[in-house]
Amino acid sequence: MAVLIDGKKVAADIREELKSKVEWLKSLSVRVPGLVTIMVGDNPASQSYVRSKGKACAEIGMFSKIEILPEETSEIKLLEMIDSYNSNDDFDGILVQLPLPKHINENKIIERISPEKDVDGFHPVSVGNLVIGKNTFYPCTPNGIVQLIKHYKIETAGKHVVVVGRSNIVGKPIANMLLQKKEGANAIVTVCHSAADVLSRYTKDADILIAAIGRANFITADMVKDGVAVIDVGINRIDDDSAPKGYKITGDVDFENVSKKASFITPVPGGVGPMTIAMLLQNTFLAYIKITKQKLA
Ligand code: GUN
Repeated sequence: MAVLIDGKKVAADIREELKSKVEWLKSLSVRVPGLVTIMVGDNPASQSYVRSKGKACAEIGMFSKIEILPEETSEIKLLEMIDSYNSNDDFDGILVQLPLPKHINENKIIERISPEKDVDGFHPVSVGNLVIGKNTFYPCTPNGIVQLIKHYKIETAGKHVVVVGRSNIVGKPIANMLLQKKEGANAIVTVCHSAADVLSRYTKDADILIAAIGRANFITADMVKDGVAVIDVGINRIDDDSAPKGYKITGDVDFENVSKKASFITPVPGGVGPMTIAMLLQNTFLAYIKITKQKLA
């Protein structure tokens, strides 16, 4: 039976540490870090993520604001809002919740955020720095995965990491982070995706399998080898009349059966999800430190 990776606990410890740092700032009567989260439209999953982000900021004493714009908001209006937060000194981090409505060009929006305030790590400057191994804002979910792997001392050097999914948010950045020639990385990385004819050809060889596909219970026990460490990034809503909300959250991995073969496995919920928010808070704190240092220099 696999060791259960307790992302909730690891994330809570990180949040606790950040909370004491923010309390220390407050004791000095100086400004605390601030995050603005901008959401366009009323996607239910996005609403829930945005609420969780605001709550997490409040819990550690950070300043946060949530901007909810109607679905029909124009691209120009959103760009103007980003400009105003780029020059607003109360905010160190700007996050635009994705996906955006179809009439808005996501890349254009991401590129407008000042790289200094890019706490999502999605700006091309952050992405480029990540790929060449320079210190930067790492995207929150991949960074959370790396922290879990380190926390549980799962060996990565020379190991075969197989990432299923090639999104800009998870698949591409996690592959690049684990490929870096440094401690806690140095892995042999394969990225596979929906175009693979037989996906299990790749997944069966994984020492570490990272599932970021977005399809419930997609990775089954016959697709993995004994002893694999499994990181499940999926957050899928499945209809469930017996659940209070009418749905339950399930990962991309058939947890019940894969956990019988795995050495480590993340549960859903309570695995990677809580780490994403903890990393967002950490990035906002980092942005605050960088911006404050620049002002003092
Ligand atoms: N949508 C799903 N995950 C994320 C994320 O990490 N950041 C943003 N901005 N949008 C998302």
